[in-house]
Amino acid sequence: MSDESSSSSPASPAPPSSHFIAKKDEIIRAGRVTKLVNGREVLVLHHDGVFHALDMRCYHSGGLLQYGDIEEFNGRLCIVCPWHKYKITLAEGENLYQAVDPKEKPPKPKWLSKGVKQRVHRAIEVEEDVFVRLNDAPGRIESDAYQTQHRAGKSQEKTTPKK
Ligand code: FES
Repeated sequence: MSDESSSSSPASPAPPSSHFIAKKDEIIRAGRVTKLVNGREVLVLHHDGVFHALDMRCYHSGGLLQYGDIEEFNGRLCIVCPWHKYKITLAEGENLYQAVDPKEKPPKPKWLSKGVKQRVHRAIEVEEDVFVRLNDAPGRIESDAYQTQHRAGKSQEKTTPKK
């Protein structure tokens, strides 16, 4: 894993509104790269031939997602936050959880979604380079809280997990 350690520069021109992250092979070798992109802490990772980009800090309590495992739940690829094991889909930033309907006999756990909680960005491959276009969709997504704190220079440590 590297943190802004890429010394490479892009061979290709950046697609509109995108930011160079690193060479593809650098990310593939590292598996995960974190980078400050326009003031935002972004995690870019490579998994099964696909690049993904999302806010680096977990929306729940600021856990460092670059240390999370990647697993499939209910057919959806997720990063599992190393702090409290929340499962966040890589494609949409949704938090998945399992619930049981006690009225069901026998009760069977079902996967449900709390909705989009983590801001997911677009990783763009251009020849040997990887760029990120930040997701600037309006409206608050919970992981924005950590970015706001970062820009404001406040502490990013939160001690009280949200439900
Ligand atoms: S900080 Fe990620 S699950 Fe709590």
